This record gives sequence, C-alpha cells and structure tokens, in this order.
Amino acid sequence: MLYRHADATHARALLAQHRGGKKRALIATDGVFSMDGDIAPLGELAALAQRHDAWLLSDDAHGLGVVGKGRGSTFANGRAEVPLQMGTLSKAVGAYGGYLCASRAVIDLMRTRARTFIYSTGLPPPVVAAAIAALDIIENDPAYVAEPLRKARLFTRALNLPEAQSAIVPVIVGDSEAALSASDLLCEEGFLVVAIRPPTVPAGTARLRFAFTAQHPEAEIDRLAQIVRQRVMRH
Ligand SMILES: Cc1ncc(COP(=O)(O)O)c(C=O)c1O
Repeated sequence: MLYRHADATHARALLAQHRGGKKRALIATDGVFSMDGDIAPLGELAALAQRHDAWLLSDDAHGLGVVGKGRGSTFANGRAEVPLQMGTLSKAVGAYGGYLCASRAVIDLMRTRARTFIYSTGLPPPVVAAAIAALDIIENDPAYVAEPLRKARLFTRALNLPEAQSAIVPVIVGDSEAALSASDLLCEEGFLVVAIRPPTVPAGTARLRFAFTAQHPEAEIDRLAQIVRQRVMRH
C-alpha cells in the first residue's frame, strides 16, 4: 500500500483503515528522498509505527555521511526511533555494498538468511575496510561532513530555490526532452547532471538532479548556478 510522498497524515489514515485486518505492518520510507532531496518526517512516522504496532524502515542511502552531522536522517531533526535503518555504502561512504542497522535478533536473522552473506559472495574484506575508514572520517571530521550540504545550499541560494535539506537538489524542468537537452548543455559545460524522467518521477516533473560533494569548488558552483539561471530556468 502506498502513502503519498513524506505524508505522515496519509500514512496514518491508511493504517487506521487497514491495520486491523493484518498480522504485521511495516512503514518504509527513504530517509532523504533520492529524487527530491527532502527528508522524511521520521519522528511522525516513528510515532505512527508505535501507535499501530508497525515496524519502521528507512533507506538512508542519501542521508548517511551528509545530514544529521553525518549520522543520517534519523538525527536530522532531533532523534527518531527507527528500528530498521538500511542504506548503501556506495554514496557518501564511497565504497560498495549496503548495510542494515537493527536489533541483534534481526541482524542474526539477516546473517543466516540474507543471500549476500551466504557462500563466498559476501563483501570483499578490502571493501569493508574502505567503508570503515570512511565511517571513521564521518565520525571524526564534522567540518568535512558539513560540506556537501553547505555547497548544496550555496547553489539553492544562488538560484532562489527552497533551501537544500540534503546534498540532492532537483530543478524541475517538466518535459523529458527539455531535461535531456539541459543535461546535454551542462555536460558541454563540464557538469555531469543526470536528467531524471518518468517513470522514475511523476509525469510532467522531469528534472535535473544535482548532487553536491565536499570536493566541488565554490567557483564552479557559482558558474553552474549562472548557467542554470540563464540557460535552463529561463524557459
Ligand atoms: C534511496 C536509495 N536506496 C538505495 C540505493 C542503491 O544504492 P546502490 O546503487 O549503492 O545499490 C539508491 C541508489 O541510487 C537510492 O537512491
């Protein structure tokens, strides 16, 4: 059953209507939404989950290492109780594979049942070592961790867009062809910005999806904002 984007009120209505007849329930959400860059109302969802005896699962692929001082979306607005936190090690962590943070009982179950842990196909030790090294940086270098969000905010401020909540900033173009040609234009200027089109996003909301890192030079962000203002947003 789908509830509307980041809409805890809708999730509450669905739970009130349907929870009764079901043995188990799980509320699943992105922590940072991958195509919009906004943050899920995890506190409200956690309260809902508690009230309706449901589990709450967040996919924090875009939150870990970036928001909540690097601790992810669970810590972005106070602290939310999220018993199942999963994500990828391939984005801010810069390695490979994924993770699940959960209770000991859940982790024990995953260890024995998850396909990726069985036989010799688990994560290679050097990849895990790289991920741990990155987690050490995230834990110990708050100034560096703050950079992607600070840079995303330089960009949203330059373009008068709603303030970035994460390192992801969408610029809605509307039409798929227009998004593709804007992406080509930025590529010619030296910027890799992916055009996201339906069915990944709703019809009529094709967009450029900007993702900022700690390494992007500020002067390049200024130049990017200028090009977007003059040659993408004027349409
Ligand atoms: C919300 C979300 N979860 C998971 C993933 C998967 O990450 P990976 O590409 O490392 O498998 C992505 C990747 O884009 C994502 O946006």
